[in-house]
Amino acid sequence: MSQHADPVVPTLHTLDTDLDGIDYNCRQPLDLPENEPCWPIRPDQRPEVVHTAEEFMNACLFQPHVDRVVVLPDGIRLLKQQDAIPVSLRQAVSQNSNVRGFLSALSAADKESFKARLWQYSSKGQESEIRFKGGTKTIAAVSTILEEKENEGKIPRDAPLYISELRWLNKVEHPICKGEKVKTATNCDVYDFTALSRKMPFWERSEGGIFVGERGGGSGLHVDQCLWSNIGKNWSGYKLFAVWPWSERHAILDDAGKGKMLDFPLAEDTKSFLARARVMAVLRPGDCYVFSGGQPHAAIIIGDGISISAYESIVPANPEAIGTLIRTNCGKDHWKKCWMDDEELDELYEDVVGAVQGALKDPSTETKLRERLEMCVDIMRRDGDAEMKKLWAEEDRKAMGMDKMSQASEGSTATSTRSRSRSRSRSRSIRSGANGEVKADASSEGSTHGTSPEPRKSNWDKIDGFRDPMGICDVISAN
Ligand SMILES: [Fe+2]
Repeated sequence: MSQHADPVVPTLHTLDTDLDGIDYNCRQPLDLPENEPCWPIRPDQRPEVVHTAEEFMNACLFQPHVDRVVVLPDGIRLLKQQDAIPVSLRQAVSQNSNVRGFLSALSAADKESFKARLWQYSSKGQESEIRFKGGTKTIAAVSTILEEKENEGKIPRDAPLYISELRWLNKVEHPICKGEKVKTATNCDVYDFTALSRKMPFWERSEGGIFVGERGGGSGLHVDQCLWSNIGKNWSGYKLFAVWPWSERHAILDDAGKGKMLDFPLAEDTKSFLARARVMAVLRPGDCYVFSGGQPHAAIIIGDGISISAYESIVPANPEAIGTLIRTNCGKDHWKKCWMDDEELDELYEDVVGAVQGALKDPSTETKLRERLEMCVDIMRRDGDAEMKKLWAEEDRKAMGMDKMSQASEGSTATSTRSRSRSRSRSRSIRSGANGEVKADASSEGSTHGTSPEPRKSNWDKIDGFRDPMGICDVISAN
């Protein structure tokens, strides 16, 4: 990597936050090496920065995110995510400075218990997934394939690596939400920070993935399979992150191509792509951030050591955000090579309608949220595609039927809607995260994201080495 041709990290938004003590037992460098190269970031391309959990959650829950990146420095601590990475993964990170070492440090049991995708970056400017035919992508399996390809000379032993979408192979009971079955391996999420998350139109938490990488790894240019937003959480390492304008959502991908890595030294064409970026951020250890996955975005890890991060996909209670969501798989708005499977999108829309209806019919839903959700409904009814309009017509028919029934027996429509949503069994795998490529897996279990209206019971003390020092469960119940 060139240390000369590219700009070095300038004084940026995050440098006003003291990193002392921000480690989360990852034992990774808290500072960048001197003269570490950086993307050239103009003042007008810098992200919005907020400094409190309240400001950030307000942005996540109620605001649109197109053409924005909102960063909360020290967000891991402020949002009580310090212990979210499982102890076994944190130990493997803490004992190593690169991804190969991390993989080697995992126990045989862990390698069989987690699945993930593995990427290598031996070709400048392009990400490449280490693929194999058949079988389950356990960490054991992808590690074996990596070793074989290295022995065959097909992958250089010093090629940067990136592990994406690391999660449990099989569903497990969520460590803090009794009865909730998930594949996400994070012990808690921003989803757990406030009960309002359960009343959002969409919040994917059951399949959230962990990402582990090193300098030169990251996510090539893409838009997500669904025009939702992402909450990123960065426990260790530094990452350069960029989003391109909504107005350039097709042009930048047509010009640069899907998977383009904006790495160092920067070629002239790469500089021209970066000059077109809407927002660029240097994400530091401890930062959390939110952005729209519906516009082109890319990331590359810089600095020494291991980066470990995770994402949650959401749709806030905001009519503009809903208006963006319902453009998914529409050729005018969504770059076609990144489309979601239509059947999965139908199911996602069904979830959204069910979640919004459930929140609106819940008498405890706050007025502010209720008003925003009603505005979302108006947008879905007015601008939604045929499937979306069909879902609302079905809701209308049910409401009419329930009105007739209620005249006889004062029934609860809220209970009816929720029961239907929770009992649905299906096969789908919604992928969030920086790679944004849909890979359906074979799970036939129902998704549990965002569907539980019941107060959560604390189960923190059952996690080995896990603690709840900040009282996150109190936060949940307080809401
Ligand atoms: Fe993405």
